[in-house]
Amino acid sequence: MKIIIINGPNLNLLGKREPGIYGNLDFETFLSQLKAGFPGVDLDYYQSNLEGKIVDKLQEVGYSYDGVVLNAAAYTHTSIAIADAIAAIDTPVLEVHISNIHGREAFRQKSMISGNCIGMIAGLGLKGYQLALHYFTDSPHD
Ligand code: DQA
Repeated sequence: MKIIIINGPNLNLLGKREPGIYGNLDFETFLSQLKAGFPGVDLDYYQSNLEGKIVDKLQEVGYSYDGVVLNAAAYTHTSIAIADAIAAIDTPVLEVHISNIHGREAFRQKSMISGNCIGMIAGLGLKGYQLALHYFTDSPHD
């Protein structure tokens, strides 16, 4: 099973960035722990601070991978381009947020992409990525 985690802007700063909200762990360290827990998954990781590069990556993986775990970060709240890319591709996309976007500023409470994703996990910290992988790997989905 081939799955990719795609992280959007500023998530390359996890561990240093607002640790009270996003925690103390950098994503690379977390990712190696995550991979160890899912030995049967061919797990890729991509991070970009650029909207168009996230669109490019969704198009690249979106007709061959089994799942995308997407934290579009701030683009969640603004990007019609990412929402359209999710709608365009065949691969199901699961939206993840580390923080509870519904308990934060009003501008974070609206997601442009949720309607095109199969579901959303928010507010559970990095564990949200693990739960998202379980969604794709535990069978059946329906
Ligand atoms: C985030 C929430 C977004 O509002 C914010 O812009 C981020 C991270 C989260 O994971 O909690 O960069 O997606």
